[in-house]
Amino acid sequence: MDTKVGIDKMSVYLPHFYLEMEELATARGVEVEKYTIGIGQNKMAVPTIEEDIVALGANAAKQILTEEDKGAIDQVIFATESSFDYSKASSTYIHELLEIQPFAKSFEVKEACYGATAALQLACDYVRLRPNRKVLVISADEARYGLETGGEPTQGAGAIAMLISADPQIFALDMDSISITDNQFDFWRPNYSEYSMVDGKFSTELYKNIFTRIMTKMEATQPEKLKQLRAMTFHLPFTKMGKKALGSYEELADSVFNEEEKTALLNTWKSYFEESARLNKEVGNVYTASLFLSLVSLLIFAEDLKSGDQIGLFSYGSGAVAELLVGTIQDGFLNALNKDVIVQHFNNREAIDIERYEAIFNEAVPTDDSKTTIKGPIETAGFYLAEVDAHRRYYKYRD
Ligand code: HMG
Repeated sequence: MDTKVGIDKMSVYLPHFYLEMEELATARGVEVEKYTIGIGQNKMAVPTIEEDIVALGANAAKQILTEEDKGAIDQVIFATESSFDYSKASSTYIHELLEIQPFAKSFEVKEACYGATAALQLACDYVRLRPNRKVLVISADEARYGLETGGEPTQGAGAIAMLISADPQIFALDMDSISITDNQFDFWRPNYSEYSMVDGKFSTELYKNIFTRIMTKMEATQPEKLKQLRAMTFHLPFTKMGKKALGSYEELADSVFNEEEKTALLNTWKSYFEESARLNKEVGNVYTASLFLSLVSLLIFAEDLKSGDQIGLFSYGSGAVAELLVGTIQDGFLNALNKDVIVQHFNNREAIDIERYEAIFNEAVPTDDSKTTIKGPIETAGFYLAEVDAHRRYYKYRD
């Protein structure tokens, strides 16, 4: 049981288009600072019809898998809350597109934005028992609240792929964690609804409340471990949410730490917050992938973090389930995470104006049984949704 298990490889893939928050604010008659400072976002990723969750996820995973990995993967777990099928898992497509060995199993996991953490924990437990095998975890989502809604500035899209193995290069996960379930209606999407239902203000209060409950439990059960954490990363539906959570812990009256200890801990975490939010600011909410995008952001931008440093990961999924994971940065993290490639991927994207965003937003995959060639507004390299025929989705690869 002493084998270290965790994230061996990790990649990010985003839609090609984005909308500047300034453009959205102008169109909606809102002061731009409300979005850039009040919510803490600069850009919002806008997926086209070709860039569905399978295409986004496959493009993320393709970057990290070798032929050897494909032969060692026993499970393809897809975490999403943007699923387009109640029965067939998105990972069945990924399994074929990436030519994973045929005797692997593939399934989907759901609990709002918490889903990818559940998938990661399942994957780590599997590998702890079989250290020579691997699991591919993909989280991909398209956050959609609708045009001219309160949630609109907190939309976004993208995918993160993580290869879980023994002796990981990037991040080893501790087996101990603290999780919580609290049945609430802060954000949910009934099967018949195209968009999420959300009680916006309540959702931010519940997030803070659950974070402080988890921190209280952590203080009571593992105070020394808590004090060792160099940085705390968050599920970031919008980056201000992480700051709000830190503020709620700061305001918490009862603590096992004296004032000096707690201030020192919070100051350390605050000093890394901007780095952990830098990529998220440029994308928006990626639901299941947001926490892991923040982890990537921290690891590539925080220059003084090093191997052996322990990091907290606060995962939150509406409904609500949350978990605080702790992990340790590994020796090979900077080689395994190619900062230049990630930054270039972000910079290669293209800005669109409000009219184009609204037109793309309103495009929909056909729901009749006809055969339709999907034609997005631009041809980008990689996997894309190419055809829908009798309700079946088919993907192609473009060089
Ligand atoms: P809103 O009513 O549009 O915004 O909703 P607001 O009036 O609350 O303003 C937002 C902030 O901007 C406020 O700051 C204002 O003061 C500030 P705060 O008090 O919060 O610190 N502001 C300004 N700042 C600078 N200059 C200005 C200015 N004007 C105002 N001129 C809300 C915002 C986030 C609620 C809305 O967008 C929403 O409903 N979003 C979706 C729900 C959401 O993201 N909830 C987060 C917690 S739940 C979660 O994380 C789970 C989730 O990811 C789903 C899942 O798990 O699957 C959502």
